[in-house]
Amino acid sequence: MTDHPADQSGSRPAGLSTGAAADRPPGPGPDPASPTSPVMVAARIENCGRPPVVADGSSPVPGAGQELVRVLAAPITPLDLLCASGTSYFGTPALPYVPGVQGVGSVDGRLVWFPTAAGMAAGDGSMAELALVRAEDLVDLPAGADPYAMAALGLSAVAAYLALTWRGELARGEQVLVLGGGGVVGQAAIQLARLAGARRVVAAARSERGRQRARWAGADAVVPLGPVTSADDPPVSPQAVTADPRATPEAVAREVEELARRLAAACDGPVDLVLDPLFGVPAAAAARTLRNGGRLVNLGGSASETCPLDSATLRSRSLRLLGYTNNELTREQRAAAITYVAQQSAAGRLRVEHEVMPLAEAADAWRRQAAGTAKGRIVLRTG
Ligand SMILES: NC(=O)c1ccc[n+]([C@@H]2O[C@H](COP(=O)([O-])OP(=O)(O)OC[C@H]3O[C@@H](n4cnc5c(N)ncnc54)[C@H](OP(=O)(O)O)[C@@H]3O)[C@@H](O)[C@H]2O)c1
Repeated sequence: MTDHPADQSGSRPAGLSTGAAADRPPGPGPDPASPTSPVMVAARIENCGRPPVVADGSSPVPGAGQELVRVLAAPITPLDLLCASGTSYFGTPALPYVPGVQGVGSVDGRLVWFPTAAGMAAGDGSMAELALVRAEDLVDLPAGADPYAMAALGLSAVAAYLALTWRGELARGEQVLVLGGGGVVGQAAIQLARLAGARRVVAAARSERGRQRARWAGADAVVPLGPVTSADDPPVSPQAVTADPRATPEAVAREVEELARRLAAACDGPVDLVLDPLFGVPAAAAARTLRNGGRLVNLGGSASETCPLDSATLRSRSLRLLGYTNNELTREQRAAAITYVAQQSAAGRLRVEHEVMPLAEAADAWRRQAAGTAKGRIVLRTG
């Protein structure tokens, strides 16, 4: 694997530039890890559908069974954006709250990964200098682990790993098709499928940048999902990958068929397992590449919440269509998966493209992540 083309981990200045925190005088100031500190800097969602506002606020005080984590790194994930939109199936969150469903930080000199329920249940998350976490939820990370790289991987890599190996029952020597191969789940899935012994890993991605990431992650072949943006790519249908709601069923069926043909051409025979964070037309097309008894694991709807999958494809090959969510994992499963991801990351076998920005720029980072203009996963530097 070559160095990542746009890995900017740790390359940005640490200074605060916006919000009340920016007005603090330089110098050591209060110890943010001390439970007695009067204030901490945090990003807070004040209105659903709007970026967070960075400001000083009260430091949290741990209760029974809780630890106060000095946060180092907090990623902005699709789940954070969805919860803060107020449209998730968890309902509208109580406002204001600190977003961030996961992070990396330190407790008593231990480097730890931690989850939170921010946006899904009452309570604050990781996009702050300090976070309250249940002690039993902390997962120790290997010494020398890169907190930003690990925060970028986090639950996205856990989902990729367990959707492949646990739900998808990936066996050595199998051929895997990874949709959305340029996303964080997709990049991780390409590398994790290889680590699990896949014979061949084919990826599909919408943007040229996504296809570059999938290649960098080690895909044997990468298929464009939508209109091409590079002269090097084979000509494809100019239709959007997400079916236009006004498109006729015949037009959608043609799009599925055309994409299925392109995907199959990149594979060395029937596919054993499809890893699908997209749904929609890509999933319907990918299902057609599966062997008899093949599996498709869906873990997201980045392309569409619905999918024009036809009954003939499903039943004629006795396909297994499976769903996956991290929310179903036991604490032990999640901890074991994070530990595996951290080990692979520390060993240099697992990385995803990410960009590090200071907590003070959380609003800008949030907007860029939501607009899809970030260079991979944005990780806020909170420490
Ligand atoms: N079930 C779970 O437990 C679980 C866990 C983690 C994530 N997820 C879900 O998995 C999905 C992907 O997560 P992620 O972390 O990989 O997100 P991400 O890093 O933001 O990547 C999103 C991916 O979706 C692709 N995409 C977006 N719109 C598309 C469209 N209309 N057609 C085709 N491709 C499209 C993007 O392609 P380009 O880069 O080419 O634009 C990119 O590859 C999300 O829906 C997320 O909520 C689920």
